[in-house]
Amino acid sequence: MHLNTFSILVLCLVGWSSANTLQGSIDLKRIQSILQEGLKNKDVASLYYSIKGLKDLKVPIPDVCQDIKNAKYDSKNIEQVFYLASAAALSGCQNSLSTDLLRPPSQVLDKKDATIQELYYAVYTLKALGKGSVYDKEDSLKNLIQLLKKDDSPANYGYVFALCEHMGCTAWTASHAEGVLLAADESDSRALHFDGGLPVTSMLLSTITRSYKQQKKASPLNPEQKLKFAEYVLSRRSVTSPRGAALLLDAATALADDQPTPISIVIKGKKYVTSDSDSIEFAVTDLLGRPVPGLKPEDVVAQSGTRLADDVVVLSKQPLTQKPNEPTTFVLNLSKIKAQYGMYKIALSAGGKTANVNIAVLGEIQVSSIEVGIGDVDGTTSPKVTTVTYPNKLTEKLQADHLQKVTLKFSVRDKWNKAVTVQQAFVRVGGAHDETIFVAEPDNAKAYKVELVRPTDNLHITTE
Ligand SMILES: *[C@@H]1O[C@H](CO)[C@@H](O)[C@H](O)[C@H]1NC(C)=O
Repeated sequence: MHLNTFSILVLCLVGWSSANTLQGSIDLKRIQSILQEGLKNKDVASLYYSIKGLKDLKVPIPDVCQDIKNAKYDSKNIEQVFYLASAAALSGCQNSLSTDLLRPPSQVLDKKDATIQELYYAVYTLKALGKGSVYDKEDSLKNLIQLLKKDDSPANYGYVFALCEHMGCTAWTASHAEGVLLAADESDSRALHFDGGLPVTSMLLSTITRSYKQQKKASPLNPEQKLKFAEYVLSRRSVTSPRGAALLLDAATALADDQPTPISIVIKGKKYVTSDSDSIEFAVTDLLGRPVPGLKPEDVVAQSGTRLADDVVVLSKQPLTQKPNEPTTFVLNLSKIKAQYGMYKIALSAGGKTANVNIAVLGEIQVSSIEVGIGDVDGTTSPKVTTVTYPNKLTEKLQADHLQKVTLKFSVRDKWNKAVTVQQAFVRVGGAHDETIFVAEPDNAKAYKVELVRPTDNLHITTE
């Protein structure tokens, strides 16, 4: 066995707790790649959501007219007819559609017992086909209100709000939206969503915010509601389907474009400083990862920094600096405390919102020398001790047999040669293929000790 490496690791927990900010944003590149992949999918729903999402992202869409022409759909399923007609309208491929497509929505409108959802699909199919004026606007709102009395689910309100955008009744939306928002479900007092999940939440947030904008009214969403809906949207960010991606984008855009927008504060990269790298970078963004509108760089401030071990305040009201050419990156310079090892809680505020983050100040530590002792297992004779100074190696091979034990003793020192206590010290013993990790125990306040005992081995020790 060769003893060739001494490694000391400092373990620390770097945690996070948030007051009134988000801890992340939607990865638009990932959303875009799901949507682009979705274009290859021949299913009409995937095609529609991929095209819609890419248009929302303002990403050029390849020619999909042939796909639309060949798309398989069930003409009795008004939802599928809507997807096809809308995909064609969004991509400028109306000419690839069959004229038969007009029949299914007309049949829905003629039916006495059409549901709100069917009416929504029928009206928007006709709109996509350039026949938006067919739906009788006078009586239709009254009819929809009657239908809502039978089933006033959030989903149905979403469809009616969307129909009102088309029919010109956004004032009705504005008089009902606040009540609907109160019907949102709260999960663990952090996140808000509507019954029906992402599709319904996305539709309600986007129709409500658009309708209020159209009415030139301030959004009915208060900052707490926005933050909680944004928490929900973030919790669904691992979507994988084009439909999920488009709905997520829609919901996130509705919230991110509604000022003042929820703010996300996250650490970018390393969560610690050392004597060589004395600063920590933060990303301050909206829910879509964009710069926060109206946020002045001087409004990004570390309000306080507190050492967790003893609650000592080490910094107060220290401004961050905006990184050149990276409008969302702010740098906190911690050179002041880089020699004071430990865990710290930083309260970082941006535009009146605050996040608490835990960071670590790591010491650059070294093991200046190590004592290798070889003694009897039963401790009857005092061990033979050899001292090795870093970076030297043992000058001779040490021999030990199964009646003997090997002990290592070392102290951990900082850059200024002061002995430091680390949370845990490990010693890695072995070569590339066979290694064992030993936990070193504190021997006294200044040193660590570990016994390497493998009674059946004959040990040949060299340091390399
Ligand atoms: C942090 O501040 C110190 C002292 O003012 C300075 O020497 C150092 O370069 C700064 N670090 C960065 C990354 O700007």
